[in-house]
Amino acid sequence: MSATFLFLLPFTIFSIFEAAQPGTSNISLGSSLYPNNSHWLSNSGQFAFGFYRESNNLAIGIWFKKIQPQTIIWTANRDVKLPSSEDVKLHLSGEGISVILQDKQGLSPLISNITESVAWASMLDSGNFVFYNSNAKIIWQSFDAPTDTILSGQRLLAGRNLVSSISTTNHATGRFQLSMQRDGNLVQYPANLLLVTAQYAYWNTETFTAGDNVSLNLDHNGQLYLLNSTGFYIKNITNQTHLSDNHVYRLTIDSDGILRLYSHSLTQNDSWSIEYSSSSNKCDPLGLCGLNAYCVPIE
Ligand SMILES: *[C@@H]1O[C@H](CO)[C@@H](O)[C@H](O)[C@H]1NC(C)=O
Ligand SMILES: *[C@@H]1O[C@H](CO)[C@@H](O)[C@H](O)[C@H]1NC(C)=O
Ligand SMILES: *[C@@H]1O[C@H](CO)[C@@H](O)[C@H](O)[C@H]1NC(C)=O
Ligand SMILES: *[C@@H]1O[C@H](CO)[C@@H](O)[C@H](O)[C@H]1NC(C)=O
Ligand SMILES: *[C@@H]1O[C@H](CO)[C@@H](O)[C@H](O)[C@H]1NC(C)=O
Ligand SMILES: *[C@@H]1O[C@H](CO)[C@@H](O)[C@H](O)[C@H]1NC(C)=O
Ligand SMILES: *[C@@H]1O[C@H](CO)[C@@H](O)[C@H](O)[C@H]1NC(C)=O
Ligand SMILES: *[C@@H]1O[C@H](CO)[C@@H](O)[C@H](O)[C@H]1NC(C)=O
Repeated sequence: MSATFLFLLPFTIFSIFEAAQPGTSNISLGSSLYPNNSHWLSNSGQFAFGFYRESNNLAIGIWFKKIQPQTIIWTANRDVKLPSSEDVKLHLSGEGISVILQDKQGLSPLISNITESVAWASMLDSGNFVFYNSNAKIIWQSFDAPTDTILSGQRLLAGRNLVSSISTTNHATGRFQLSMQRDGNLVQYPANLLLVTAQYAYWNTETFTAGDNVSLNLDHNGQLYLLNSTGFYIKNITNQTHLSDNHVYRLTIDSDGILRLYSHSLTQNDSWSIEYSSSSNKCDPLGLCGLNAYCVPIE
């Protein structure tokens, strides 16, 4: 007996940053992925959506396909564990993406809030995985629901957070968060505070008077900055870092609680380089060092 019941992608209504592009890979209704054939590629092959394995687990997410080691930039339902067996299948239908399990033990259903029918999906070359309706309008996109990372062209809107992962090999919810607050300040806190107050903050951009709807933006040239709702640069966190257009970037709140901007050359067998860190002191993130304790940085 097989059971179909898991919707992976919670739906949120937010502005659309990206229109349908001609030539993007088109994933049609009825398409499936299995752990053995594992992903849908973007046109350029830079990004993949699908099953990935880390430690003993199977997860569903998006990663840089051309970069080694595998760099995960988004995870669906990061705190839901999938069985690592092969008896699992991912299926695209008008209702979105569902996971079909042969054995439903150990999982609780999650209901998505996709209110319109999906006509097709696409893994875009920007790293954004999107659902379109029959009018080719984007009705859901992974860029609106980031986990611990944003990519060039992606924005973190007011009221949204990035939350660190447990480790580089476990993308479940970790211990730290970056909040784009509605007062305009970009702040780092321990995650899961009962009461979020300034006293727990361990880093901020000091832009708390910038007002509503300030967003964090990362450009294709590596510039990281805050824009207010009328499009003014409230703060440049980094300048453009490479003059030529042959690098990719990602901004990640790492499992140690430090926010880092990474770049990777497209033309070489490189590793990620750190272009910016919110701190150089691994003991800055609160919660790593208790009262009367000496600091023991994780990792
Ligand atoms: C993708 O598929 C839909 C539905 O079949 C079609 O309407 C649309 O034109 C296709 N888009 C591209 C870019 O091929
Ligand atoms: C992958 O697994 C599915 C389900 O077990 C099977 O139907 C399919 O043929 C397999 N594909 C490949 C390429 O092995
Ligand atoms: C989905 O919709 C239901 C009913 O409208 C609501 O209670 C729930 O909070 C929504 N879930 C998400 C993730 O938005
Ligand atoms: C911020 O955005 C919300 C929702 O889009 C809107 O209702 C509000 O008027 C905006 N505020 C400003 C100051 O632009
Ligand atoms: C955005 O910033 C500019 C320059 O500081 C300011 O003139 C403008 O009023 C701000 N917009 C909002 C909506 O606060
Ligand atoms: C921030 O960067 C933008 C774009 O490079 C530039 O136009 C602006 O003058 C910079 N603002 C500050 C305060 O440096
Ligand atoms: C960007 O470059 C300008 C000009 O060199 C410099 O004044 C500014 O401090 C830099 N900003 C950042 C965020 O590094
Ligand atoms: C890049 O790394 C891959 C895998 O290690 C290797 O096969 C390839 O030859 C390398 N290419 C260059 C240009 O070093």
